[in-house]
Amino acid sequence: MTTIDKSKPVMVTGATGYVAGWLVKQLLEEGITVHAAVRNPDNQTKLQHLNEIAAKAPGQIHYFKSDLLQEGSYAKAMEGCELVFHTASPFTSNYKDPQKELIDPAKLGTRNVLAQASQTPSVKRVVLTSSCAAIYTDASDLQQTPNGEFTEEIWNTSASLTYQPYSYSKTVAEQEAWAINKKQNQWDLVVINPSFVMGPALNPKTNTSESMSVLKQLGDGTMKVGAPKMGFGMVDVRDVANAHFLAGYTPKANGRHITSGHNTNLLDMAKTLIPKYGSTYPIPKRALPKWLLMIVGPMANPLFTRKFIKNNVNMPWVGNNSKIKNELGMTFRPMQETMEDSFQVLIDEGII
Ligand SMILES: NC(=O)c1ccc[n+]([C@@H]2O[C@H](COP(=O)([O-])OP(=O)(O)OC[C@H]3O[C@@H](n4cnc5c(N)ncnc54)[C@H](OP(=O)(O)O)[C@@H]3O)[C@@H](O)[C@H]2O)c1
Repeated sequence: MTTIDKSKPVMVTGATGYVAGWLVKQLLEEGITVHAAVRNPDNQTKLQHLNEIAAKAPGQIHYFKSDLLQEGSYAKAMEGCELVFHTASPFTSNYKDPQKELIDPAKLGTRNVLAQASQTPSVKRVVLTSSCAAIYTDASDLQQTPNGEFTEEIWNTSASLTYQPYSYSKTVAEQEAWAINKKQNQWDLVVINPSFVMGPALNPKTNTSESMSVLKQLGDGTMKVGAPKMGFGMVDVRDVANAHFLAGYTPKANGRHITSGHNTNLLDMAKTLIPKYGSTYPIPKRALPKWLLMIVGPMANPLFTRKFIKNNVNMPWVGNNSKIKNELGMTFRPMQETMEDSFQVLIDEGII
């Protein structure tokens, strides 16, 4: 049981990010002082949305220059904090060297932030943003699960440096976090494992999260002939922020938490947009056949290998979200609301 004092500042790594933006907003609106650790505190464009939120909220925001790969660079930001949210980690499919661009910042960054927590006597709890990607790589992994569902007991054993390295980066980073946590007893570790995050971005023009690029492709014509019926879980970004908040401030919170509102697939997600936007935007309406994807997929996107298509297209995804609902009192927004709110932001901002 760990009780966090809301009058003490909290640190958020990667505060410029898509997910972290909503978490910072919730913290500021609760009147909490946020130590926002960012790579470049001089980049006003990336911080504008946070400054606008802070101007209207009771909480205060202070920026600190920190990089996951620079040892000691979180010391100042963590000073006086009882609670640390470690969200920073690259989420992109646009990389050349997965070791340098995904795995090192994820794993060494986690080591850096958590080592700093052990050197900062005020820290009592670390909330880590992991992912369902630390539980599974392909929807077909479901066939190996004990009850035909993904749970917190399951670890990803099929991702590697050469196959789905982002999933590998999240797996090794979370494993590193648990290993470091076990070696000390100053702070406890609570992990949030979101599935695929959708929902309105607070910073749609500067955001590079993979979530935004998938959303954009649903409306810009990239998938006008159809979308793969690729099984995965989906969760609203505002719910993910709330999950972090609950993980931070619920004294009994412990362990991993599957944070996924809906068992779905890319086509069904897209179809929620049809009633409101289908006559104006080229939203995919039908499933792309698997045989066709096997031929064109690898040419369209190097990550869309035949193995990936075989293991994910027309495969259901089932995640068990009962732990977070029962232990943290979590509720999830309907998928329709999430998708419409996300899409509307892209329209309003002239992105599609
Ligand atoms: N979006 C999803 O579907 C999803 C699902 C499950 C888990 N997650 C996890 O949620 C977290 C946030 O992801 P997101 O979707 O919000 O992506 P995002 O918007 O790209 O945020 C990533 C954040 O990490 C920071 N970062 C990257 N490399 C860094 C480095 N070397 N040093 C310091 N900061 C660095 C980025 O800072 P800059 O602004 O300086 O680049 C950015 O603030 C990640 O841990 C991700 O794995 C995301």
